[in-house]
Amino acid sequence: MDGDITEAAALRYGSGQEMELPVITGSEDEKAVDIERLRSTAGLVTLDEGFANTASCRSAITYLDGEKGILRYRGYPIEDLAEKSRFVEVAYLLMYGDLPTAIQLDDFSAILNSSSLIHEDMRHFFLAFPNNAHPMSILTTMVASLSAFYPVPENPNDEEEAQIIANLVSQVRTIAAFSFKKFIGEPVVYPSYKLRFVENFLNMMFSSPVSSYEQDPDIVKAVETFLIVHADHEQNCSTAAVRIAGSSLANVYAVISAGISALWGRRHGGANQAVITMLRSIQEAGDDGRQFIESAKNKKARLMGFGHRVYKTFDPRAIIMKKLCHRILGKPGMTDPMFEIAMRLEEAALSDDYFLSRNLYPNVDFYSGLILKAAGIPFDMFTVLFAIGRTPGWLAHWREMRHSENSRIARPRQIYVGPLKRSYIPVNLREKHSVGVMRRSRTKIVVSKYPEMADPSGEMPEMG
Ligand code: ACO
Repeated sequence: MDGDITEAAALRYGSGQEMELPVITGSEDEKAVDIERLRSTAGLVTLDEGFANTASCRSAITYLDGEKGILRYRGYPIEDLAEKSRFVEVAYLLMYGDLPTAIQLDDFSAILNSSSLIHEDMRHFFLAFPNNAHPMSILTTMVASLSAFYPVPENPNDEEEAQIIANLVSQVRTIAAFSFKKFIGEPVVYPSYKLRFVENFLNMMFSSPVSSYEQDPDIVKAVETFLIVHADHEQNCSTAAVRIAGSSLANVYAVISAGISALWGRRHGGANQAVITMLRSIQEAGDDGRQFIESAKNKKARLMGFGHRVYKTFDPRAIIMKKLCHRILGKPGMTDPMFEIAMRLEEAALSDDYFLSRNLYPNVDFYSGLILKAAGIPFDMFTVLFAIGRTPGWLAHWREMRHSENSRIARPRQIYVGPLKRSYIPVNLREKHSVGVMRRSRTKIVVSKYPEMADPSGEMPEMG
């Protein structure tokens, strides 16, 4: 379904002119005013900073209703997929539109396995990064570098496209684990054909030449579920970046690297880390949560993991993550006092008018950091895990776009608010006209090692 034209919106502009704009209705009855002819007919463009009211494409991949707390991949509720599916099945579903049959799943798993090794020469790249390089900086660089080793034909056929998809889904995971090994100064562990997707990742992360890694089915399930609930979220910041970069027909490895770069920012992929930092500070302050809630209400702090641009009720992913926390952290020896604090915070917030009147409910990040922490995933790898989960979603959007008849290069307009035309000033006369934009300064610029961890502006993450 391409969105039917069901009605029209009337626009009055200028000195009494009027034009009719078609209204498109999606399969879940959501409506959009189609402004394709707006500029050519009325000489107008729309201004929507942050794209809060703009649908950038038609897509059949993910449906999200923020008012009702609904999230579906290809029509399947996220709750069913999280409970019953494996990540590899969900990746197939996002990519190809249907859950795989047993044979299709075997074939897909086989191609993922056979594509899991990165070219051996690429392993040497890891040596060139500084010790303790952040895993996200390695991941984004290495994924862009894949294009040098796996040339992409100008117009890949179905088989070539399937291989590209398998390379990326599988190798992002391998690179992620290798970058962690670099981070901690251990030799890399190669992927194994004998292990499934998540087990393979955990083995590459936690086994070493001197010790094996014992898989815990509950931890495997926890990581699997984390990856599934992060696999797609329609037109969020990084997916929009993928679509924009991909619309120029750039190399797909560079396109996915653009998605990873966009995800890295603290408004997007960093919120699960921010929640753990917040819970730790509450724990260290000996606060039972009440003081923090008061600070949040007085705007001195933000209750991280609460609120969402789209969800105005419970984020369905948060409900899944909370249940999982109960299961994992309820096991003997697995308890985490931070989970108690999180539940107390949630209870206090959900009985407080400040949060209720603003529709502030827990989002996926409120509990997902606790899951990763319980699985032994190091703090600096949280965003990397998000990237592994989101890779099939990015690729599904890239694939949908390249097969769409409506695909055009993404090229937004702007409203220019700069100076009007002025006369050129020769360099020797410029001093007295200078407005001092670029003065020479002796100020030393201090660059934080991990700028994404710092939050000098006090600005908090927001993610899709
Ligand atoms: N704690 C306290 N107050 C909050 C919070 C919060 N977490 N979130 C929003 N508010 C308040 C704002 O101060 C504002 O109050 P006001 O009306 O008195 O000015 C009101 O609620 C509306 O907030 P906005 O910031 O305008 O909402 P917006 O939709 O732009 O922001 C966002 C959404 C960025 C997610 C915000 O809720 C937030 O910062 N949450 C914490 C960070 C976080 O958890 N991010 C992850 C998002 S989801 C995800 O990761 C998948």
